Amino acid sequence: MPKLTVEGFPTVNVESGKRLVRAIEQDAGVDVLHACGGNARCTTCRVEFIEGEPSQMTAAERQVLSSRGVTNARLSCQIVCDHDMTVRAISRLTGSGRPDPGPTPASEITPPPQWEVKA
Ligand code: FES
Repeated sequence: MPKLTVEGFPTVNVESGKRLVRAIEQDAGVDVLHACGGNARCTTCRVEFIEGEPSQMTAAERQVLSSRGVTNARLSCQIVCDHDMTVRAISRLTGSGRPDPGPTPASEITPPPQWEVKA
């Protein structure tokens, strides 16, 4: 079972293959935002990697990060937990002024992932 550590919170075991955004919310208990419901459109699920950043990313993640000019962050809705990771939750409901974190992302990555090697 991969281990997930969100900085400032206890390390948890996560079901292998679980979407990182769901693991952060459901396993680590951290109020990560996911305003678009995990569809690589909003970037509110972004996290900073401290350890274990995946070397691949979905085409959808690359495109939205590039179009929004987001650097040094990854979209937790476009990442699966298949190895140990330590992340910093930089986009949380707390302090956001939003009424809720957004629709719960589906179990599988959406849109269907086209994997690329991270540049
Ligand atoms: S980009 Fe919207 S939840 Fe990930």
